[in-house]
Formats: sequence, structure tokens, C-alpha cells
Amino acid sequence: MDSKRIVSIIGTGSYVPERVLTNQDLEKIVDTSDEWIFSRTGMRERHIAAPEQAASDLGTEAAKKALEDAGVDAEEIDLLIVATLSPDMFFPSTACFVQEKIGAKNAYCYDLGAACSGFLYALETARAQIACGAVETALVIGSEKMSTFLDWEDRTTCILFGDGAGAAVLRSGGEGRGVMESVMGSDGSLAHLLSTPGGGSRNPMTHEMLDQGMQYLQMQGREVFKHAVKRMTDAVLSALEKNGLSTDEIKCFIPHQANIRIIDAISKKLGVGDRMYVNVEKYANTSSAALAIALDEAVKDGTIQKGDLVVLTVFGGGFTWGANVLEWGK
Ligand code: ACO
Repeated sequence: MDSKRIVSIIGTGSYVPERVLTNQDLEKIVDTSDEWIFSRTGMRERHIAAPEQAASDLGTEAAKKALEDAGVDAEEIDLLIVATLSPDMFFPSTACFVQEKIGAKNAYCYDLGAACSGFLYALETARAQIACGAVETALVIGSEKMSTFLDWEDRTTCILFGDGAGAAVLRSGGEGRGVMESVMGSDGSLAHLLSTPGGGSRNPMTHEMLDQGMQYLQMQGREVFKHAVKRMTDAVLSALEKNGLSTDEIKCFIPHQANIRIIDAISKKLGVGDRMYVNVEKYANTSSAALAIALDEAVKDGTIQKGDLVVLTVFGGGFTWGANVLEWGK
């Protein structure tokens, strides 16, 4: 076995549920306006899953498309990781539900919890396992049914998120440098700024806990904003340095789709202009799915072409963050 092998993304896919919730629809639910939401976030609409759809259902749809795009049979998958903060249930893992639905019976499967950074964390985990020869083929999914964990009476959070899923198939080999090494980081001292505090072993499911709304996502928006800009900017610069590259050589930057103002601030700091890929207006923040959906769209709409260098960067609860560089080989 080689100690370090090239790892390539050989297929991508994404899925958003049918129902669209526009800013105008939100005006009927909470005291807000299309103007406020769009000017503060860049969001116009988001997709909301049907009551019977769970994270594994969304992830399964994205996974099927990624496998088809890659020309890979589900039975060829050795490793299946689902990044999610809205799993079907605490256990078994959402990854095991996806495994069953797609027939990836030779895979070992687990969920990865890194909030909105989850997809990049999962990508790095899969890359490292393939690079060291532990597995050959991996399926990585970011899937979220955020709508379940939002307080639809809290205008400061419910307007920001949407549901969806994205997936990528990774395999050893390929042309170019493939998925390069990532730069990842976490800071647990700031965990309280963005969390869903209720329902776990810290604040178990009781009537009191539910009455206090602790089962819903809570966030100190301004603090999150500040840290997100700094961490993603620094992570991108570190990832470029680590791989001996400069911003000028990058065709496309795909950041976590949390807020257009965060993306614009990073773009300005890096001096990369309109090379930032943005789709937040259509989906809002789909947490761990956001990067995966954006990557799939950027490939499918031709923004990313064979030989292009692409930077991915994320930020999320924890806090967690990261960045990596890929040379697109398809
Ligand atoms: N509609 C209308 N008014 C609102 C709304 C709303 N939906 N939400 C808040 N307001 C009001 C506030 O009550 C406040 O009113 P006040 O001045 O009378 O008190 C005013 O608007 C300004 O509120 P701020 O919170 O200061 O607004 P800010 O400019 O900071 O924008 C926002 C808020 C959009 C949440 C911003 O802080 C942000 O985007 N933060 C980052 C959030 C984020 O991206 N989180 C996720 C990242 S990580 C992950 O993906 C999990």
C-alpha cells in the first residue's frame, strides 16, 4: 500500500425538497420582511422537507445522483459518512439508514457531527482514509432537515435556514492533485454561541425543557458572523500555503453558504472578487449540506471544469472551521 495516494472526487449530487418557502411566506409567519431578510442575508427562498422526509431520505436522493454521476455501484462503497446536525434519530446513525436505502451493503457507516462544517470534515476524513490505503471508495453526504430544529416564532433564526442534501463519491487515483490536504480547526470555548442545547444528556427531553424551547437552534448572530469571516479567511490562506498555491491560481472559491455578507467580507479580505460561488439566495443556510450542494451545482453549471483549482471553506457550531483545495479531475 502507498503511504499517500491521490484522492479524487469522481461524482457529485444534490437534492432539495420540493416545497419552497419564500421571504414573502415568512412575512406571514413572523414579524419580518423580504427587504430585511434579503439585505441582511442575501436569501430569497429556501426549501422545506415534507413531514415524512427525514435527513436520510434527503441524503439518499443526493447519494443516488452522486453514484450515478460517478458511474459507481452502491456495493462498491467501502465507507459511507453522513455529516448532519439533524439526524433521523440519535442512533442508529443516519448513515446506516442511507446505507440500507441505497444498498451500500459493503460499506461501514457512521455520522459525523461538526455542525455546518460537517461536509468538509467528512471529506477530509474520507480523503485521509483513502490516501493511507484503508479504503478505496467513499461516499460522503451532508444532509439536513433544519426545519425540524427551528423555532418558527423566532425571527432571528427561522429565516436563516433551509433543508437539503449534497453528496460526493471519492476514490483513489485520478489525474492531477485531486483533493489536497485540508486545514481544519475547532474552538470549544465558543460552543455556547451556536447550539441546540436541549434533547441530549446535558438537558434531557422533559416537558420543562420543551417549554423553554431548548430543542431549537439558538445563536448569537453577530458573534457568529465575526468569527465566521475571520476563521474562513484564515483557513483559506493556510490551506493555500500548505499546498503551495496562491489565491490568483484558484478558479473558484466555494464558501459555506450562511450569509451573503459573510461571503462578501471573505471575498474582500482575500481579494478574489466574483470568484466566490454563491447560491444562498435559493437555499438559505442548509448547514452541512450547503457546501455539498454548492459544489455539485458549480460542477453541473460548468463553473468548475477539468483541471481547475477549487477552494472549499466552512464554518459552523463548535466552533468548527476548515478549508481545502482540490484540482478538479473529471
Ligand atoms: N426580520 C426583521 N427584523 C429582525 C429580524 C428579522 N428576521 N431578525 C432580527 N431583527 C431585528 C432585531 O430584533 C434587531 O432589532 P432592534 O435593533 O430593534 O433590536 C435588528 O433587526 C438588528 O438585529 P441584529 O441581530 O443586530 O442584525 P444583524 O445585522 O446582526 O443581522 C443576522 C442578523 C442576519 C443573523 C447576522 O448576525 C448573521 O448573519 N449572523 C451570522 C449568522 C450565521 O450565519 N449563522 C450560521 C453560521 S454557522 C452555521 O451555519 C450553523
